[in-house]
Amino acid sequence: MNVIVIPFFIAAHITMDKPWEHGPEYTFQVQVNSTAVPGEDVYGSMRLNLESKLICQPKGPYALSCHFEDSQASSFIADSLDPSEPAVPTGQVSRQAAYEINEDQFEISFNERGVDGLVVNENIQPRELDMIRMIVGQMSVGAALDDDIGNDGMTFGAMENFTQGECYTTFKIDKKLVGRSLYAKRGFALKPIFGLKDGKLVQIRKTRNLVMCTHKVPYFFGSVESFREESDIMSDMSMSDGHIIITSTEFISGTSNVITTSKISEAVVTTLYENVRLRLESIRPAESEPPAVKEAEPATIFIGRWLIDDSTSEEDDDDMIR
Ligand SMILES: *[C@@H]1O[C@H](CO)[C@@H](O)[C@H](O)[C@H]1NC(C)=O
Ligand SMILES: *[C@@H]1O[C@H](CO)[C@@H](O)[C@H](O)[C@H]1NC(C)=O
Repeated sequence: MNVIVIPFFIAAHITMDKPWEHGPEYTFQVQVNSTAVPGEDVYGSMRLNLESKLICQPKGPYALSCHFEDSQASSFIADSLDPSEPAVPTGQVSRQAAYEINEDQFEISFNERGVDGLVVNENIQPRELDMIRMIVGQMSVGAALDDDIGNDGMTFGAMENFTQGECYTTFKIDKKLVGRSLYAKRGFALKPIFGLKDGKLVQIRKTRNLVMCTHKVPYFFGSVESFREESDIMSDMSMSDGHIIITSTEFISGTSNVITTSKISEAVVTTLYENVRLRLESIRPAESEPPAVKEAEPATIFIGRWLIDDSTSEEDDDDMIR
């Protein structure tokens, strides 16, 4: 049987004895790692690591109904200033419950370019909604891809809507042969819509040109500050690169961001390095239909914006800065 894992983007062929009564359930492993390096003359960095699972079921052909499970977030100080190095805590590891995402059901709708919008519980905290947006944004290609991608790949530029804005993005798509090691017996075979021969790998790399944006929000994971008007913190995003890897058994999508923040009152500049990653872990038969979203309201994918109808009424403004 064929199922849609990510609408307009990835399907999977599953071998099964009999049809799955409630359809498939996809489990994605989620990782968000953040390294904060405060200013010059420092001998350590602050790490924040979040791990979670995102569990989704298709809801019609163009949407997924999802929730997070088993979130675990912790922070610690490390000696290493290099965000790409696995860090060893120099002291206590503290649980960071405020970064552990709630488990309420929500929906993600797609169009041919990627994630189109969300449906969430109207009582969701704006900060929580932004964290969900950033993770779910990894399911978005950002451009419509089709069979035109040659055997060797292609490079093109286009305006891309993503969580933090609308910027000019260079897309580089490569198709490569891969070694045998990637053929794990997983019970499914993934297939991007633009076709992929078995044993090939597709890599999509996105480089966002952050000086060519029509709209840009300097967000970092878990923050509430970036769109608060009276904020004492100034932030700027200096890098945002995306990478997606697809083989017949793997789907991995991630983003690396670099954000600088400074406190006006203290003149200390902190550099934040963020790595977000979503990896398809399993496809299994669902046990039941996905639950409905309670008190459902549509929301955009854009950080800091509340409802689809982003009206400027007093009430919405209050919502945004809560
Ligand atoms: C996050 O950090 C953990 C622990 O150091 C590491 O195993 C994992 O690969 C990192 N993930 C990302 C996306 O950087
Ligand atoms: C981005 O989203 C805005 C608001 O929905 C829309 O007006 C614009 O056309 C979109 N741009 C792209 C490149 O999809």
